[in-house]
Amino acid sequence: MNVATYLRRFVGLAVVHSVQPGQLAGAIQIQLRRTRGLRICDPFGLPLDGSFHFGNRKMADQPSQPSRALAPSDDGLAGLHLDTLAVRTGIHRSQFAEHSEAMYLTSSFVFDNAQQAADAFQKGTDGRNVYSRFTNPTVTAFEERLAALEGAECCVATASGMSAILAITMALFKAGDHVVISQGVFGSTVQLFTNFFEKFGVEVTFVPPTEPAAWQRAVKPSTRMFFVETPSNPLTEVSDIGALSEIAHRAGAVLIVDNCFCSPALQRPLELGADIIIHSATKYLDGQGRVLGGAVLGSRALIHAPMLQFMRNAGPTMSAFNAWVCLKGLETLGIRMEAHSARAAALATWLERHPRVARVLYPGLASHPQHALAMRQQKTGGGVVSFEVKGGREAAWRVIDSTRLLSITGNLGDVKTTITHPATTTHGRIPQAVRDAAGVTEGLIRIAVGLEAVEDIQNDLARGLSG
Ligand SMILES: Cc1ncc(COP(=O)(O)O)c(C=O)c1O
Repeated sequence: MNVATYLRRFVGLAVVHSVQPGQLAGAIQIQLRRTRGLRICDPFGLPLDGSFHFGNRKMADQPSQPSRALAPSDDGLAGLHLDTLAVRTGIHRSQFAEHSEAMYLTSSFVFDNAQQAADAFQKGTDGRNVYSRFTNPTVTAFEERLAALEGAECCVATASGMSAILAITMALFKAGDHVVISQGVFGSTVQLFTNFFEKFGVEVTFVPPTEPAAWQRAVKPSTRMFFVETPSNPLTEVSDIGALSEIAHRAGAVLIVDNCFCSPALQRPLELGADIIIHSATKYLDGQGRVLGGAVLGSRALIHAPMLQFMRNAGPTMSAFNAWVCLKGLETLGIRMEAHSARAAALATWLERHPRVARVLYPGLASHPQHALAMRQQKTGGGVVSFEVKGGREAAWRVIDSTRLLSITGNLGDVKTTITHPATTTHGRIPQAVRDAAGVTEGLIRIAVGLEAVEDIQNDLARGLSG
């Protein structure tokens, strides 16, 4: 019999779990409410007086831990490095003094009384957690940590990268608005803009990611959004964030950057002039291919209220479990990105010398068309290498099918190296003409380099390349 059942049955008490205003749910207060006019006692008849015995220690005696979380607005963040922020921000320690961040798996949060509940629903939550579709402490912790890494005032986590794009578009834009978007974006992003946003009256123009002049030409009086992914998936084309932000701002539009390939460890788009960042946390932020997640980041004035309204009413929310996994993933982001990048650079150099390889696309190579720009914008070339084998689809599939170590899968940003044939998988549903314009050819293979020894990755690819 648990304590709550015992109290209900023998003492006549209802046990109410509640969160005090201004506290997180980890600071669980167990309050006792009289239900039958009985004196509040413990099982041995001792008065409880609002505190509650667990073992031999009263909850009320637990040391109250001040929240030492470093929030994005906290002055304590100034001067701290990314690796430090990644392990020290977004911590809201509860009265239990846990060292590792707690996970708050709860759909809703309770109130002390009806008035409090009514106020929270009608006057606004005022920072209080009400229901996990609106906010949840673990999700908030992830948001604060990612905001600190991106140098953003505000972060709203979402269920996936795609729902981040959906949410920010629904929150900020309307029928009649015009979007200028890079031709080099992820396949589902193309589908979302063309099959869905266009259906609701948003006009979409695709332009080459590396030609700012084409973005300028595409501008109309109704242009409200520029959307770019840099480096792009799978061609690793690098767009000039500063140049695009200037064009967007002159046109009265915002620039949204999908920072999935670099993560804040390698590129910080807001510092380069972008207004909004979207993430697929599914990739490097989790880092081990475990969960789906996404995020929208930007200034408080621009995204906070519209995003919370949309999330509250539409519900593409990140789960507390996924937020906890991604929160812990962020702790190793810096060192993982360095290791991914070093291996990717070595692999790209090896592939470039291989006689069966027609071209290698890796921003860290001097041969990459936007190498100089990439080295200005990014810390390294990143972890993704794409290359075109001679012989089209047949040759590409032979390389893929000959691997024994690499994982044949569409995901990227994992510690396990993944190998993908974009033309028939991630980009397979895009009309051939759009795919061709984007340069996703039949011979193209994308490798998201993991953390295995690079010699083992090379040997795995060499088999299919020599066949
Ligand atoms: C660049 C990029 N953006 C967004 C997404 C979508 O993210 P998710 O799968 O988390 O919805 C992906 C997925 O592969 C991606 O590669």
